[in-house]
Amino acid sequence: MGRLELTLATPADPTSTGTAAIALPIVDGAVRDGDKVAAALGIDLAAYVEREGLKGEPGEVHTIQAQGRLGDTAHVLLVGLGAAGKITAATFRKAGAAVVRKAPGKAASMSCFVTAAASPSELAAFAEGALLASYAFTAHKSEPKPASLVRLDLVVRKPSPKLSAALSRAEHRASATFLVRDLANAPSLGKTPAWLAKQAQALAKKTGLTATVLEPAELAERGFGGILAVGAGSERPPRLIRLDYNPAGKARARVLLVGKGITFDTGGLSIKPNEGMAAMKTDMAGGAAVIATMQALPALGLPVRVIGLVPAAENMPSGSAARPGDVIRHYGGRTVEVLNTDAEGRLVLADALAYGVEELDPDYVVDLATLTGAIGIALGKRHAGLFSNDDRLAAALLAAADAAGERFWRMPLVEDYRADLDSPVADMKNIGGKFGGGSITAALFLREFVAGRRWAHLDIASAARSDSDEDEISKGATGFGVRTLLTWLEGL
Ligand code: BES
Ligand code: MN
Ligand code: ZN
Repeated sequence: MGRLELTLATPADPTSTGTAAIALPIVDGAVRDGDKVAAALGIDLAAYVEREGLKGEPGEVHTIQAQGRLGDTAHVLLVGLGAAGKITAATFRKAGAAVVRKAPGKAASMSCFVTAAASPSELAAFAEGALLASYAFTAHKSEPKPASLVRLDLVVRKPSPKLSAALSRAEHRASATFLVRDLANAPSLGKTPAWLAKQAQALAKKTGLTATVLEPAELAERGFGGILAVGAGSERPPRLIRLDYNPAGKARARVLLVGKGITFDTGGLSIKPNEGMAAMKTDMAGGAAVIATMQALPALGLPVRVIGLVPAAENMPSGSAARPGDVIRHYGGRTVEVLNTDAEGRLVLADALAYGVEELDPDYVVDLATLTGAIGIALGKRHAGLFSNDDRLAAALLAAADAAGERFWRMPLVEDYRADLDSPVADMKNIGGKFGGGSITAALFLREFVAGRRWAHLDIASAARSDSDEDEISKGATGFGVRTLLTWLEGL
């Protein structure tokens, strides 16, 4: 975490910055702010762009090995921003990531003129892209490869409190995202429900939240049958993690956040094939996003009352595991016939949703979960699914996601599919099948536990992890969701 230091800078002469590399923007096919650099290099940048056929598309980076006054090891990066009329925060986010990913191996520091004309929100997007792209999960490397770029000076025409605030906003969001990535990338050997609860407690203490952790005895006493059933097969018992944020003044709204916290998902007795099972260490990415969002709230001081819940369990097959055909009783009394123990996320979430609604009497309920493989079939790897029973809440979340640079697509809660969750022996069963649409039936299942509140379910199963580094997204856990939640909460 925090590998890359960003500063705001106003160098009078770009060639006197003392950094090993200089990044210049290409807008409308022409290099901007490059006159002094060009003079120092003794090259005609316009002719260079022409000769090399550089289009300057967003995210395109071309590196020139510099000579002359800049010294032997200096580099000039030409960074595409596309057409002047089409530059958005997303363009800057992509450019920031590209600058870090394409930084020359030998340059420890870089002066970046790409942000010279940026608005505060564009500067924040650039900084966020740069920081997010600098992430590496090195906790278990004996000899972690040190990051080459350690300092990036963002050149602005005139420093201002607004620009400084934009930069620190980007830093906060990146560090919240890093927290999710670190938690989700952690191998499940050490990542037990108890360990996750400890992390949440430590963060709560550090930031000023109240943390409460329910252990199995209390979960049993209070009827959390879903969390207990899913955790029953593991030697490492489940927990319900609760984080409370109380604003200093009057709260404008009460919000319940619930994140799936399966610390490893083997599928249980309905066991998964080995292919792809290793990825199931990130099956608590929704829970991590809730923890990371909560720990950011005290510093932001938002006027909303928020409870964050993370039902944490390890889904294992064993002699004590829940069986297909078992009937469990959720918090609040609803019974469910478990026909597939691999549909475990909805079972832990159901308990937490019912409990949270009862505790908080929330105006809004939002859950995040790596819930179904089917959402990735429907939307691919970069979009998450958004289900909601409230059009205004859905619109607000989609707008927040758009501003935050995360992609969601609204999915339908198809009423006809609900009948497929009827069980002959219990109030409901935990899987459908007749209609397909596995992400939709999963969402319909969760809806039964929100008591008609304004609710949104974010299925982040595919967006929460990536097979490759790309733009601001990192290989492994991506940290998806936390920036959308923070943006949405800020707007309430
Ligand atoms: N954690 C998985 C969903 C998942 C799959 C996340 C792939 C990330 C990548 C979830 O618990 C699960 O196993 N869902 C089942 C549901 C089915 C049994 C109804 C699925 O998607 O196959
Ligand atoms: Mn599963
Ligand atoms: Zn799962």
